[in-house]
Amino acid sequence: MESVLHVRGRSALSGQVTISGAKNAALVLMAGALLCPEPCRLRNVPNLLDVKRMGQIVRALGVKLDAHGDVLDIDATHIGQSQAPYELVSQLRASFFVIGPVLARLGIARVPLPGGCAIGARPVDLHVRGLQALGADVQIHHGVVRACVRGGRKRLRGAKIYLDYPSVGATETLMMAATLADGETTLDNAAQEPEVVDLANFCRAMGAKIQGAGTKTIRIVGVPRLHQADYRIVPDRIEAGTFLVAGAITQSEISMSPVIPDHLTAAIAKLRAMGSQVAMDSPNTLRVIPSPIEAADIETQPYPGFPTDMQAQFMALSTLSNGNSVITETVFENRLRHVAELQRMGADIRVKGNIAVVRGVPMLSGAPVVATDLRASAALVLAGLAADGKTVIQGLHHLDRGYENLTEKLCRLGADIERVMVPSSETATEAIESGQPSA
Ligand code: UD1
Repeated sequence: MESVLHVRGRSALSGQVTISGAKNAALVLMAGALLCPEPCRLRNVPNLLDVKRMGQIVRALGVKLDAHGDVLDIDATHIGQSQAPYELVSQLRASFFVIGPVLARLGIARVPLPGGCAIGARPVDLHVRGLQALGADVQIHHGVVRACVRGGRKRLRGAKIYLDYPSVGATETLMMAATLADGETTLDNAAQEPEVVDLANFCRAMGAKIQGAGTKTIRIVGVPRLHQADYRIVPDRIEAGTFLVAGAITQSEISMSPVIPDHLTAAIAKLRAMGSQVAMDSPNTLRVIPSPIEAADIETQPYPGFPTDMQAQFMALSTLSNGNSVITETVFENRLRHVAELQRMGADIRVKGNIAVVRGVPMLSGAPVVATDLRASAALVLAGLAADGKTVIQGLHHLDRGYENLTEKLCRLGADIERVMVPSSETATEAIESGQPSA
């Protein structure tokens, strides 16, 4: 059996939605807790498939985990294993990031290459070169990255590192590794994403000396040991952005909290350019007030630019605009796979390389579609909410990876969405009949 989503479009939404803790912060903070030889508590941890997988990896390293509600206790007093299992790492790219803290704690870490994924090849060369700069000997054999610190002290040493690209993951890996290194590390051209800042704040709560997170230059003065901390994860800016688009695309007023409006600056600016108003009702509450949708060009960029994780959702919105939009994906090389699915719903989109030209149409029509990656699945839900008739979405494991209770949250706002169990063969047959790959 497999579950599919039935979305009946054109219901008006209204009301207030609660935003969960940030997935990408939760994943890396779970890795960060491995730096600490005392128990740590994370709060506001979203209940997601990706978080469960990260938990399995942390457990596989011999670390104790205890989850109750949105609280996660991590006790990495002992890390019993320096090797992360391939079956788990291959399912979750973010799990590669454990290489930094495990290496810093044990002087050795072996983590399989995460491999490509639905949105691109996603190499780890920047992580590897940075760890080498910190004094690690890094070899890649048989698909496993083996990093170790030679010599008796087993401690990395601080270094000046320039990242060719402000990779979020590489910044996080190197920041974690440097917290326990001997001496000072400077990361130049670092990623400025709010999740990097959240990781830095968590590490500081554990006693790390980190300055400049959220700017292009991060300075870390290594300390010999961290101590326990109790830390609350920031709200998920991508989830909040998805609900802002839900309001705009269904022409509904939706309010959402808790959010950190500063984390959504680029998305809010784009939404305004596309006609909607966004009101800040309190310092942590946003409300979207819709208007007819205008076309606008979008180019994804590292933070504070427009996030690649919002590109698919905004493309869904632009399909219903009254004009032409040029959407350029610059962060990942293969992140326009939702275009084919939106076209099935009547969207007018042409693609050349990493550029999509969207010509707005007056209406989308419900169709069977397949979610190709996490944010693409959110875009299809949004398109389905606005479309005429019923949209049936397959591939829900993508949605479950990164959105906590999206269906329930939307239903509470008045959406007509239902999760339906169907035999796997049925979805495959439907997919073949409709010319879609079943994978
Ligand atoms: C993180 C987010 C993801 C988001 C992305 C960009 C997590 C768990 N995931 O992914 O949701 O879409 O940031 O905001 O936090 N690259 C290299 N070499 C490297 C590392 C990256 O070439 O060593 C390239 C990647 O292939 C990609 C680009 O850099 O084209 C950006 O990747 P990166 O910022 O590292 O993204 P992630 O940390 O994987």
